[in-house]
Amino acid sequence: MNKAKTDKIRDFVKEFYKNSSDNCMSGWFYDHHVKHVAKYAEQIAQEYNINVELSVLSALFHDIAGATVGFDDDNKLMNETLKITEKIMRENNYSQEDINEVKIAIIPHSCKDKFPTTDIGKVLATADALGHLLTDVYLVLPICDEEINDEASWNEYKEWIVKKIDRDINNKIFFEKYRKLAYPRYEAIKSIFSTE
Ligand SMILES: [Fe+2]
Repeated sequence: MNKAKTDKIRDFVKEFYKNSSDNCMSGWFYDHHVKHVAKYAEQIAQEYNINVELSVLSALFHDIAGATVGFDDDNKLMNETLKITEKIMRENNYSQEDINEVKIAIIPHSCKDKFPTTDIGKVLATADALGHLLTDVYLVLPICDEEINDEASWNEYKEWIVKKIDRDINNKIFFEKYRKLAYPRYEAIKSIFSTE
């Protein structure tokens, strides 16, 4: 892995989030989600002998346009994310082949209607699920989301979380060892967010 280049991009991503006009993105999202996804991607890629550098870059970029366009429109978020990824990787002299590998990993990482077919894509989807299940991000989101401000919106949030962690544990983890590792956390989060 080219550490200097990866660290430079890591700093860029951190700064990019910090400059977001959205309070949740600027204050919380890098430290409570993206940083962890990058750490898990590095760990899994190393363990399974998959390209570590491109796995880490996929993780750093996977939600990047959340900082500018937000998360309301999936297509807009993905298109912008791919544009920023292409631009920054090109500026850092990555080959078109490497850029495409990272983009192909990012496109299906949510595992909703598309699923990863490449090793790096499987690393990213798994790392993203771990970045939800093994961190406090689901507790952080309601703190910074101004729209969660009454009983109805809180109940809606809880329902959303339960669906999301089901997808995290069932559809997004491609390495069995990590499903086992995350399972107790999945059950704990589910029990909290399933309460009346
Ligand atoms: Fe994510």
